[in-house]
Amino acid sequence: MKIYGISGSPRDDTTQYVLNEALESLKSDGFDVKLFSCANKSIAPCMHCDYCLTHKECVNKDDMVEVYEGLKQADGLIFATPLHSGGISSEILSIFERTRALEAVDINLLRGKIGMSIAIGGDRDGGQSSAHLQIITYYMIHGIIPVSGGGYGANLGASFWSQDSLEKIKEDEYGFESLERTLKEFKNFLNTIRVKTK
Ligand SMILES: Cc1cc2nc3c(=O)[nH]c(=O)nc-3n(C[C@H](O)[C@H](O)[C@H](O)COP(=O)(O)O)c2cc1C
Repeated sequence: MKIYGISGSPRDDTTQYVLNEALESLKSDGFDVKLFSCANKSIAPCMHCDYCLTHKECVNKDDMVEVYEGLKQADGLIFATPLHSGGISSEILSIFERTRALEAVDINLLRGKIGMSIAIGGDRDGGQSSAHLQIITYYMIHGIIPVSGGGYGANLGASFWSQDSLEKIKEDEYGFESLERTLKEFKNFLNTIRVKTK
């Protein structure tokens, strides 16, 4: 089963580190993983030109072309975002908006995939839940099944407090516990689908 993880930070730092840890865990359980990093990439917001509605593809051939392929092929999706102004980064928002072109081809293209969310803030309470809700809302709109690690710590997904430092995030035990619990549920759902489609 293919897992596509997207790091929504404009740099290779704490978000990419945590996403990589998540993907390594999935890989060790036999999942086929791929990481896309928004660092040094160019993904513009949707221009609402409606080109995709008639031509069945996006007019903008920037780095979103690669993301379209990843989204299409994946069984499971992980959106990992740094907190920017109390919510998801503009990189993640652009990816969300540009999904319009993918669904101009097939409205059900993302339907039934499994999705989880990772939110990383410099502050302990810097808007992680709001970011999760933005990601979960995207999942709901596109028919992606959102999973969390459940109550007592992983209510909406994996939440981290980076203190704006790669060294500090490695010490965030609570964050890694929320990641472990969310991954456990994510794997359970993916394995259920694997059994059903056999
Ligand atoms: C423009 C900007 C806005 C930010 N806004 C928030 C915020 O609202 N809440 C928060 O907890 N951290 C905020 N931060 C801090 C980052 O979320 C934090 O440093 C995170 O670990 C960065 O992820 P990265 O290392 O992958 O880039 C902000 C950082 C930037 C650059």
